[in-house]
Order: sequence, then structure tokens, then C-alpha cells
Amino acid sequence: MPVTILGIESSCDETSAAVLIDGQIVANYIANQSIHEQYGGVVPELASRAHQANIVPVVDFALKTAGISLQQIDAVAFTQGPGLLGSLMVGAGYAKGIALALNIPLITVHHMQAHILAHFIEDPKPDFPFLCLTVSGGHTQIVRVDSHLEMEIIGKTNDDAAGEAFDKCAKMLGLPYPGGPLIDKTAANGNPNAFTFAEPKIPGLDFSFSGFKTSVLYFLQDHLKQDPNFVEQHLPDLCASIQHSIVEILLKKVKRASRETGIKQIAIAGGVSANSYLRKQLFALGEKENWEVFIPKFEYCTDNAAMIAITGYYKFLNNQFADQTAVPLARMSGLQS
Ligand code: KG4
Ligand code: ZN
Repeated sequence: MPVTILGIESSCDETSAAVLIDGQIVANYIANQSIHEQYGGVVPELASRAHQANIVPVVDFALKTAGISLQQIDAVAFTQGPGLLGSLMVGAGYAKGIALALNIPLITVHHMQAHILAHFIEDPKPDFPFLCLTVSGGHTQIVRVDSHLEMEIIGKTNDDAAGEAFDKCAKMLGLPYPGGPLIDKTAANGNPNAFTFAEPKIPGLDFSFSGFKTSVLYFLQDHLKQDPNFVEQHLPDLCASIQHSIVEILLKKVKRASRETGIKQIAIAGGVSANSYLRKQLFALGEKENWEVFIPKFEYCTDNAAMIAITGYYKFLNNQFADQTAVPLARMSGLQS
């Protein structure tokens, strides 16, 4: 009998619902919250309120698109964490309400695991084991993936995430939030080797972006002292050079991880995997290193409920259900790995 799963994502500033029928995504709807742009970052209180306003229409729209009614759902999966507590609670409360009302299983999903399992929404799908560079606004990790539900973090950032580095550098350049996609766009007309910034010297497979960020800040301060129009005059080159540096930092560690583990199936996931330069450079490195490279479709890179639904599906097949009456709130914010 086909399994129908409703997935709900509300960890940050996207309210999303998806429907998966027998392993296939048939609806994936995302409501973005533009309200944060004017504040230069996500305002948690405003995010929770927007989720509260969006959650019912977003789920309704996903069900309509899938052509099913709520009663046809076999299980409901939602993002348990990591994320903003107030935002997570909106999705958790709604999912729990549906599960209780319909008396169907409730499935908790780890947001970063879901980013990785986005690779199983559509072909081509990686074989196990594979390495996944998981790069988002809050995380930067290299994960060894041994099965749909068994994975191990073998490298992680000691401070900022790659997405945060993109967003904070963008802010220094006067670009609005979220700056990552704008750096990507503006960099298309710039020279990636125009400027160089300090490269972190972190042993092993871990990352650090705080020194890099400070290096960009001091570089800009120095040049702005001499020429107040420096940023406007060199914006594409600055974006391209910052982007190049971040991507180099990431890919050096992926190369090392592949050599150390002997794994040649390499995937990327998370919001930053939408970056066109990272995608291009990963393909180029993959050719050189003889890797099989997996890059998700753009719509499955940034936050979406399709990845929650597919993770819910694998947990459903493994009978990994949550207690409907007690989804521990503390664990929602405590899942940071
Ligand atoms: O996975 P995601 O949507 O949310 C979190 O789980 O954090 O990732 C958001 C991050 C933001 O920092 C955003 O600037 C970055 O992904 N991002 C990008 C691009 N698209 C999104 N960074 C660089 N280039 C992009 N094209
Ligand atoms: Zn995410």
C-alpha cells in the first residue's frame, strides 16, 4: 500500500509543506518571509509570527496541489531542530495537532539530516557510503553517510558557518540579507582572483570562518580609508574574491576528507550548495579527483519540506516514530551537533 507523508519545515524563515506519496514528492510549497530584509537578518519573534500566519495556508496549498485530503495522510513529519525555538514550535505544534486529530504517527526530523537526504528525492541518488559537505546558514560539516539513517560528522566548523560568512561579508559590502545569493549574483561579473584574504589554518577536517571574516573587515576598512568609494567601484571583484576564498576553504577540506576516507562519491547539501561557483568548482575538482559528484536541484538546496518528507519516509519505513503526546521541547533546540 502506498505511504503518504506530510512534511512540515519551519526551523528558520521559510514555512514549507510537502506531500510525498510512495517515495515521490508530489507537492512542495514554500512561503518565504521577506519581512527580515529590512533588519539585515532573521528576527526570531517576527519569524514565529509569520510561521503562525503561514502554516495553515501553506499546508492546505500543498495538500491541494497533491490532490489529497488531510484524511489520506499516513504520517506527519516535522523539523524538530536545530533552528529557532519559536519557529520550530509552530511547525511542531501544527504537526502534533494533525497527528493527534487523525491518530496517525508523528515523525521528528533533524534538519541537517534532511538537507543530506534531499539527495534521495530524485535521481541520480548517491550509493553508500558517500561524503556530504553540508553548508547552511548555521552549519558547516563534512558528513560520512553510511545509510539513510546512519551518518557521522567527520568535520565541522569551530565558529561561523559558511552561510554566515557569506551573509556577514555581504553585510560589510552593504548588501541586504540574505547576502549569500546576492554575492553569488554580483560575483558573476567579477574577478575571483582580484583580492586575497587570510586563509584559516585549522588542522584535520574542521573549518573556521571567523578569522577570514575579520580579514575581510580589516581589508575593507583599510581601503575605505584611502577611497570612500572603494566598495561601490569594486563590488563585483570583491564578491567574486570573497566567494572564491570561501569555496576554496570548503573544497580543500572535502578533498582531504575524500583522500583520508577513500570515498569518491561526494555530495553537497544546504543553502550554500545553491552557490553557482561552489557547484562549478566542485564539478571541476570532481573531474580531477575522479569523483562522482552529487548536487541537489536548486529548490532542494535551501530550506524546504520535501527534504523533511523524504526523511520522514525513511524513518517511517524503519518504524522510527515520536511519542505523539510528548515531543521533548528541550531537544528541539538542543540538537546542534
Ligand atoms: O539551508 P538554509 O536555507 O537555511 C539554514 O538551514 O540555515 O541556508 C541558508 C544560507 C544563508 O546563509 C544564505 O545566504 C545561503 O544559505 N545561501 C547562499 C546561496 N543561497 C543561499 N550562499 C551563497 N550563494 C548562494 N547562491
Ligand atoms: Zn537549512
